[in-house]
Amino acid sequence: MSKPFYITTPIYYPSAKLHIGHAYCTTIADAIARFHRLEGDDVFFLTGSDEHGQKIQQKAQEAGVTPLEYTTKIVAGFQDLWKRLGISNDDFIRTTEKRHYDVVQEIFRRIYDKGDIYLGEYKGLYCTPCESYWTEHQLVDGKCPDCGRPVEEVSEPAYFFKMSKYQDRILAYIEEHPDFIQPASRRNEMINFIKQGLEDLCISRTSFDWGIPVPINEKHVIYVWFDALTNYLTPIGFLDDPEKFHKYWPADLHLVGKEIVRFHTIIWPCILMALDLPLPKKVYGHGWLIVDGDKMSKSKGNVVDPIGLIDEFGADAIRYFLLREINLGQDGNFSRDALIGRINADLANDLGNLLHRTLSMTKKFQDGVLTKAVGASDIDKSLQADAAETIAFFRENMENMQLSATIKHVWAFISRANKYIDETSPWALAKDPAKKQELSNVLYNLAEALRVISVLIEPFMPTTAKRIWDQLALPQDFATVSLKDIETWGGVPDNHTVGTPEQLFPRIEIEEEKEAPAPKQEKKAKQEKKAELPEGIISIDDFAKVKLRVAEVLSAEPVPKADKLLKLQLSVGDEERQVVSGIAPWYSPAELVGKHLVLVANLKPAKLRGVTSQGMILAASDGKDLKVVEVNMPAGTEVR
Ligand code: MSP
Repeated sequence: MSKPFYITTPIYYPSAKLHIGHAYCTTIADAIARFHRLEGDDVFFLTGSDEHGQKIQQKAQEAGVTPLEYTTKIVAGFQDLWKRLGISNDDFIRTTEKRHYDVVQEIFRRIYDKGDIYLGEYKGLYCTPCESYWTEHQLVDGKCPDCGRPVEEVSEPAYFFKMSKYQDRILAYIEEHPDFIQPASRRNEMINFIKQGLEDLCISRTSFDWGIPVPINEKHVIYVWFDALTNYLTPIGFLDDPEKFHKYWPADLHLVGKEIVRFHTIIWPCILMALDLPLPKKVYGHGWLIVDGDKMSKSKGNVVDPIGLIDEFGADAIRYFLLREINLGQDGNFSRDALIGRINADLANDLGNLLHRTLSMTKKFQDGVLTKAVGASDIDKSLQADAAETIAFFRENMENMQLSATIKHVWAFISRANKYIDETSPWALAKDPAKKQELSNVLYNLAEALRVISVLIEPFMPTTAKRIWDQLALPQDFATVSLKDIETWGGVPDNHTVGTPEQLFPRIEIEEEKEAPAPKQEKKAKQEKKAELPEGIISIDDFAKVKLRVAEVLSAEPVPKADKLLKLQLSVGDEERQVVSGIAPWYSPAELVGKHLVLVANLKPAKLRGVTSQGMILAASDGKDLKVVEVNMPAGTEVR
């Protein structure tokens, strides 16, 4: 019997169209779901839309339509995007569906009957004209951030969920289950958050009515997170299909963005505990996608529309870029130039050429017919061994959600196969009738390598994977292929005729501005100037020796017996570093986690109080106060 695997994305707010950041999140989930299907697991992959709440009600009012009309139109756009992006979700849940209403109301009833929901008073800062509550933090100059008018402190009756009751249980659970929250830095943040004390959660409102009514008091609607989180139970038969529910719950993975980890690892587990249901096995908080180094926002006008990109470059190129370029737990940068660079180098060149060369040589030298290899040279054996190693790496690393590392490894195998062509020189073998068998073996092995590659890239680039399979003209239906089918070398049938080579990815031409090389004389003049520098002034070349990089703080802890020192574990893109820094008087370890700092990355390592420090972080200090230098860029970015 195959193993069930239940994976979810967050359900997205249909307040506006989705951008490339949302597409990133769903693409990750899709790649993981597809990997598990290749492993033969019984996958249930869920995504959807979170449609209630005041903000959506207001937007609908502004547009002169009902909230449901408003969300229905936007949600159709979500579904179109997922289709175009090749997302393979098994269900799509809308919180406005009856099946979800029933679940939310039933859950409310059960927890109320248990005594964990009570009627209290919600106090907040209210803007009457906008009919909106705001937090102190959201106000602009103490006024409503939408209309600029004064707000007043008001209160309304509301239902509360007794989260505080579950505080100790959830803390113990997180501490006893190290895999529950990932990556580890987010786990530490959550532990610190719970230790500060959990307050009961307000779960209803009377100030707007776009929501699911509280079943015992229809004046109230259920407030967003209680409605949203429970979506994960609806489509797997919580109310109506116990067998299905038992099969898929607890979920194997809730994949969410880093800012909503808290809701999924504290509120959601408390709700589940109140329902006596097991907790999800894993919540993974991925980093954010930023664009050309900046957070996306309407006001900056830098919001990237995934549909436009798909139209221009195709879905698989976008998927490849997002999954390869960004390390899952960290923030990552999207740039058009980097995307085009990857398409040209990795897709058009490495992958496209391997396929094209293999098929056209097979056509040219053997009329397109492959026969099973007879015997194997050392080079052939090493190609086979590399294929087996790549498959093993793929399995282990995809299981551990190391998507980017897996893609890089598969591409190393693609390069290896290209090198095999150069090493064996089929065009030379073709000239020598005595080398006929050798040539036939080489072409067979190349087709076999491509068969393996097409399966291994399926989670990342499903359409391209199938196109390769189809150009190889393999008889098995690609939809039924699993990892088992590539475990043994030699799956291309004997006497097999391959298809016609077609270009996978056209190269994208970019106009480059080339800098003219500096004439020799000018260089000399520059060197002379350097010699004349006044004291205390350094040249640009001196400055260039200092390598500065953006580093994300993964964890921080005090150095024993050293009041001022903190030991930081940093991610610098592909590499981790440990740095000891004298900032303990100004920062607690918890507030540093997740910050993006500037690291002097090529400083000679040193020991401070016996602890190794591999670099130094930058901070501004006037002797009394100190602030670390923070930059909103992905870990690993060079600072110049
Ligand atoms: N509706 C809630 C989730 C409820 S789940 C029970 C919500 N919706 S959202 O539309 O605002 O965000 C959905 C997801 O998109 C979040 O996980 C969020 O992190 C992700 N992203 C939004 N912008 C993003 C980037 N720029 N980059 C990566 N993911 C981003 O929150």
